Amino acid sequence: MLHNLLLLFVFVITCFRYLILATATATAGVINNNDLQRRKLATDENPGFVSIDCGVEDDYFDNSTGIRFKSDTEFISSGENHDTFPEYFLNNEQFGKRYETVRSFPNGMKNCYTLKLEQATNNSFRIRASFAYGNYDRKNKIPKFDLYLGVNYWTTVNLTNFEGFFYEIIHVFPADTEYVCLANTGTGTPFISALEIRPSNISTYGNGSSLELINIGLYKDDIYDRVWYPSQLPRSVPINTSSDIDTQGSGNLYKLPVEVLRTAVRPFNGSNSLSYSSSFASSYDYNLYFHFAELEFFEDKQREISITVNGITQGPFTLEYLKPLSISFQRLRTVEGNITFTISTTMESGLPPILNALEYYQLKQFTDSATDPSDVNAIMSIKHTYNRDDWQGDPCLPKGYSWSGLSCHFGSPPRIISLNLSSSKLTGEISPSLAHLLELQSIDLSYNDLTGSVPDVLATLPKLKSLNISGNKLKGPIPQSLKDKSDHGSLLLSFDENQTSCHRDPCEGNSKKFIVPVVVSIIAAVALVILLSVLFIFHRKRKRKQTEVVNNTTASNKEGFLKSKNQPFTYSEIVTITANFKTGIGEGGFGKVFHGHLNDGTPVAVKLLSSSSKQGYKEFQAEAQSLMIVHHKNLVSLIGYCKEDDHMALVYEFMSNGNLRQHLFCMDT
Ligand SMILES: *[C@@H]1O[C@H](CO)[C@@H](O)[C@H](O)[C@H]1NC(C)=O
Ligand SMILES: *[C@@H]1O[C@H](CO)[C@@H](O)[C@H](O)[C@H]1NC(C)=O
Ligand SMILES: *[C@@H]1O[C@H](CO)[C@@H](O)[C@H](O)[C@H]1NC(C)=O
Ligand SMILES: *[C@@H]1O[C@H](CO)[C@@H](O)[C@H](O)[C@H]1NC(C)=O
Ligand SMILES: *[C@@H]1O[C@H](CO)[C@@H](O)[C@H](O)[C@H]1NC(C)=O
Ligand SMILES: *[C@@H]1O[C@H](CO)[C@@H](O)[C@H](O)[C@H]1NC(C)=O
Ligand SMILES: *[C@@H]1O[C@H](CO)[C@@H](O)[C@H](O)[C@H]1NC(C)=O
Ligand SMILES: *[C@@H]1O[C@H](CO)[C@@H](O)[C@H](O)[C@H]1NC(C)=O
Ligand SMILES: *[C@@H]1O[C@H](CO)[C@@H](O)[C@H](O)[C@H]1NC(C)=O
Ligand SMILES: *[C@@H]1O[C@H](CO)[C@@H](O)[C@H](O)[C@H]1NC(C)=O
Ligand SMILES: *[C@@H]1O[C@H](CO)[C@@H](O)[C@H](O)[C@H]1NC(C)=O
Repeated sequence: MLHNLLLLFVFVITCFRYLILATATATAGVINNNDLQRRKLATDENPGFVSIDCGVEDDYFDNSTGIRFKSDTEFISSGENHDTFPEYFLNNEQFGKRYETVRSFPNGMKNCYTLKLEQATNNSFRIRASFAYGNYDRKNKIPKFDLYLGVNYWTTVNLTNFEGFFYEIIHVFPADTEYVCLANTGTGTPFISALEIRPSNISTYGNGSSLELINIGLYKDDIYDRVWYPSQLPRSVPINTSSDIDTQGSGNLYKLPVEVLRTAVRPFNGSNSLSYSSSFASSYDYNLYFHFAELEFFEDKQREISITVNGITQGPFTLEYLKPLSISFQRLRTVEGNITFTISTTMESGLPPILNALEYYQLKQFTDSATDPSDVNAIMSIKHTYNRDDWQGDPCLPKGYSWSGLSCHFGSPPRIISLNLSSSKLTGEISPSLAHLLELQSIDLSYNDLTGSVPDVLATLPKLKSLNISGNKLKGPIPQSLKDKSDHGSLLLSFDENQTSCHRDPCEGNSKKFIVPVVVSIIAAVALVILLSVLFIFHRKRKRKQTEVVNNTTASNKEGFLKSKNQPFTYSEIVTITANFKTGIGEGGFGKVFHGHLNDGTPVAVKLLSSSSKQGYKEFQAEAQSLMIVHHKNLVSLIGYCKEDDHMALVYEFMSNGNLRQHLFCMDT
C-alpha cells in the first residue's frame, strides 16, 4: 500500500512537471487512494470506449481497472511485440496490465495506428497514449520519438524513467478515421504500451474545430475516464463528506464523479483566499475548469466565491449544499509564462473558500490538414493492390514522413505529384487507380513483376510528364493515347521494346482481338488468288536465279506496296542478309525473327518459318497475303519473301525502337 502510494506520488510529480498542483507535498487527503484502483470502466458499460493494449496477442478483461482491452493487431500492420520487465510495472495497479507489453517499431520512419470510429467526425475524443519502456529491449536506453495525431505534431515522447507515463489530448476528429503515428526521429526505436479513446464532453471553443486541448490535469475515475490525482494547494487543508452529491443534476455540466466532489480543500488558517501560482517554460493558451460543491451545511449562510485568474475575475457565485457548480476560464494566455489564480469569498458570507477539483488544459492549434481526399482514396486503393503495409497514416504528412516512393506538393491540402515504385517487387496489374491521382507528374513502376496490360486511362492524367514501365512482364500494346502523348513530346515514356507487341490500330485494345482474325481471314480469301500468282511469279524468277538488289524505296514509299514488296529472295540470300542468322530478335508463333541488312545496308527483319510446321505454313501464307493487301502508314512494310523448298521467310523493313518486333508479335497473336 505504501509502495503504491509512493509510486503514485512519483507518477504525479513526473507527469505534472509543469502542473499547477504538482508542488503539493502531500498526496493523502483529497481523495482516497483506494478509489483509484477501483475504476469501473468495462467497455460493456461504456460503449464509447476503445481501449487498445499494444503488444498483446488476445483481447482481455483487466480486473484491476475494469477495462476490456483489445489487442492492437487490428489497428496496425507493423511492429513487434515485446514484454517489459516486471519490476517496472509491478504495483502500478491502477493502470492494470497495459504496461506489461509494448509494440515496437524498428522498421519504417512512421508507424500509425488507424482509429476508425462510428460517427466520429466533428466529435471530440480524449486520446491517451501510454508508454512504459520497462527495458523491453534489454538495452537500458530509453528511446525518444515523436507522436503525431493525424497529420499534426502532438508531442515528443521523452520519458525520464523505465516506468509508465502517458500523454493525453482532447481532439476533434476531422473524419471518422484518425491516425496516431509514432515517428522515428533517429533517437531510438519508437514503441507504445496502450492507446485509449474516450468520448469527451470538453469540446473546442471559439476557433472552429482546430483547437486542441492538451490535458496535463488531475483526474480520477469517471464516465469520461479522466484520471484524477489527489493533490493539495499550498497552505490548505482537506475536508470531506460522505453525503451524496447531486451529480445527476443540471449543475454537473462536466459529469464529475461523486468521489471527486466529496473532497475539497480550504485555506489552512481561516483566511479568505486560496491561491496558487505556477510558471511555465513557455507561453501557452489554456482553459481552466474549477469545480465546486458545498460540503458543509450552514443554517443561515452560504459561501459566495469569486475566482481571479491572471487578473480576470468571475463571480461571486453562491454555493449550494451538495450541488455541483463549475466555472470555466477559456482561451486565456499565460502572463510572462505564469498562471496565477486566487479563489476568495465575499466578506458578507464570512466563510473561507473551498475548491473541490480543477482541470487544466493547454490549448494547441493544429494547422495542417490531411492530403487531398481524392488523392488519399486513390493511393489507398493502390496501397491495397500492392500490399504496401509500410504505407501508414497520411500519404504526404507530416513533412519528412511521406510514404516511401511518394513525393508531394505541400499546399493546402497537400497533393501527390510523383510515385516512384521502381524495384519494389510489385506484382499483379498496373492499378488503374493511378489515373485518379490527378496531380501526378511522374510514375516510375520500372523493374517490378507487373503483368497484364498498360491501362490507357493513364493517358488521362493531365500533368503526367514521365512514365516508366520498363523491366516488367507486361503484355499487350502500349495504348495509342499514351503513344500519342509520347510522340508529341509531352510524355517521356520508357518501356521494354520486347514487352509489348504493337502500338497501332490493327491490334490495339482487347476488343480488336476479335476483329483482327476476321479481317485477316476475309483478306486472306480475297487475296488467295493474288498470292498464288505471286508464288507462281516467284518460282519462275527463282529459276532464273534472279539476284537483283531489292528495291528499298518501299521503306519510304509505303503506298507502292503491291508493286515493290514482292521481292523474292533465295535462301542463300536470306543467310547472307541475316549473317547466318546471327542476331535473333524474337520468336513468333510460327518461327524465329532475325535482324539483318540488305546489300545496300537497309536494316531488315527476317521472319523464318520453321520447316516442319504445317500450321506455320498456313500462317505464313495468311501473313504474306494480309501484309501484301493491307495498307496502313503505320503498319510494317514487307520487302520480300523467300520460298525455296522447305525454307520460307518474310523480309520486313526494320523499324527502329523495336516497333517491328511489336508488329511481328502482334500479327502472331
Ligand atoms: C477477474 O475477476 C474474476 C471475478 O472476480 C475472477 O474470476 C478472475 O479469475 C479474475 N481474473 C484475473 C485474471 O485475475
Ligand atoms: C463537420 O463540421 C464541418 C464544419 O463545421 C461541416 O462542414 C461538416 O459538414 C461536418 N461534418 C459532419 C459529418 O458533421
Ligand atoms: C527530454 O527530457 C530531458 C530530461 O528531462 C530534457 O533534458 C530534454 O530537454 C527533453 N527533451 C525534449 C525534446 O523535450
Ligand atoms: C457537455 O457540456 C456542455 C457544457 O460545456 C453542456 O452544455 C452539455 O449539456 C454537456 N453534454 C453532455 C452530453 O453532457
Ligand atoms: C483562430 O486562431 C488563429 C490562430 O491562433 C487566430 O489567428 C484567429 O484569429 C483565430 N480566430 C478566431 C475567430 O478566434
Ligand atoms: C474525511 O475527513 C475525516 C476527518 O475530517 C478523516 O478522518 C477521513 O479520513 C477523511 N476521509 C477521506 C476519504 O479523506
Ligand atoms: C493566516 O493568514 C494570515 C494572512 O493571510 C497571516 O497573517 C497569518 O499569519 C496566518 N496565520 C497562521 C497561523 O499561519
Ligand atoms: C512569473 O513567475 C516568476 C517565477 O515564479 C516570477 O518571478 C514573476 O514575477 C512572475 N510574473 C508575473 C507577471 O507574475
Ligand atoms: C526512382 O528511383 C530509382 C532509385 O530508387 C531511381 O533510379 C529512378 O531514377 C527514380 N525514378 C524517377 C522517375 O525519378
Ligand atoms: C524510368 O524512366 C524515367 C524517365 O525516362 C527515368 O527518369 C528513370 O530514372 C527511370 N527509372 C529507372 C529506375 O531507371
Ligand atoms: C525483355 O527483355 C529483358 C532484357 O532485355 C528481359 O529481362 C525481359 O524479361 C524481357 N521481357 C519479355 C516480356 O520478354
